[in-house]
Amino acid sequence: MNPMRRLIAGLPSQLRWAADLEPPRVDAAAEALVLGMGGSAFAGSVAALVAEAAGRRVVVHRSYGLPLWAAAARPLVVAVSYSGGTKETLDALEQARSAGLPLAMVGGGGELAALAAAGGRPMVQVCAPPPPRSAAGCLAGAVLRVFEAAGLVPPQAAGLREAADVVERLVGEGTGPAVALADDLAAALDHRVAVVYGAEGVGALAAYRWKTQINENAKAIAYCSSLPELDHNEIEAWSTYPGISRDRIGVVWLRDPSDDARLARRSDVTRDLLAGRVGLAGEVHAQGEGLLARLFSLVVIGDLVSVSLAERAGVDPMAVEMIASLKERLAGEGL
Ligand code: F6R
Repeated sequence: MNPMRRLIAGLPSQLRWAADLEPPRVDAAAEALVLGMGGSAFAGSVAALVAEAAGRRVVVHRSYGLPLWAAAARPLVVAVSYSGGTKETLDALEQARSAGLPLAMVGGGGELAALAAAGGRPMVQVCAPPPPRSAAGCLAGAVLRVFEAAGLVPPQAAGLREAADVVERLVGEGTGPAVALADDLAAALDHRVAVVYGAEGVGALAAYRWKTQINENAKAIAYCSSLPELDHNEIEAWSTYPGISRDRIGVVWLRDPSDDARLARRSDVTRDLLAGRVGLAGEVHAQGEGLLARLFSLVVIGDLVSVSLAERAGVDPMAVEMIASLKERLAGEGL
């Protein structure tokens, strides 16, 4: 079995690990700012979605420095980095530290862990094997448990366990129903640019994860957009080059049964209007009750699609040579 498939099958145990962990002590907070890039930032976005559903504002910052509002608003700052060495995240963390903001860390070691230890800051050390994008269950679960400790979200263990059960049913030991579904979707997306659509909330965040996993695992171009925004621009974009729209692009719709009825109706009508204009690769429906189960049920199918596409293309889903070369080229400049 491809090692990446084995890592995907490990998602349920990551979610259960997060459900069982003893959250660190953090001061109560009214809002949070998550610092992170790539797979680590995705963990922040998952936690932000849960926090928003609980009525709390959480912003995910994906760059150097800090947003200007942070110094005055004094949110809880949670720096997330699997490697612990991502320059943008460490730079933002240093600025948060010098501004005296309350800090917590989530990661797998490196400089981030050293800074947490040196400064006596709360830190959750995650358990999953590399690469960072495969540690999504641990990272997201850990950020959520930090949020829980700060009073930003209600207790998360039950939601994390439900997500683990749903993903386990879908994937099994690598032979569950999601595996065949993902292989069919990959066949429909083969040699096409994947365009993944979902409605604001669970669908949109899952669509973003599909895009980045296809980028990193299959080394292929993919894009995502969300409803209702795409109804105000992108819906017009399928006319001028019909050959490309129909033959070189595959659209996947991610649907969440809990979508607001207005968004669900928009998805139906938009899909109808685009029928015949775009190459339709398929539609995937979220499963489970809670937000985390619904989200990770879509995420895991996208992860499997990305590996299936990599296998079809004969590329190694684990290797990220371009990211490694870029980091190496910039390291000498401290970037
Ligand atoms: C690599 C991956 C990347 C990293 C990103 C930030 O598997 O998923 O998107 O997550 O380069 O690195 P970390 O997560 O170590 O801070």
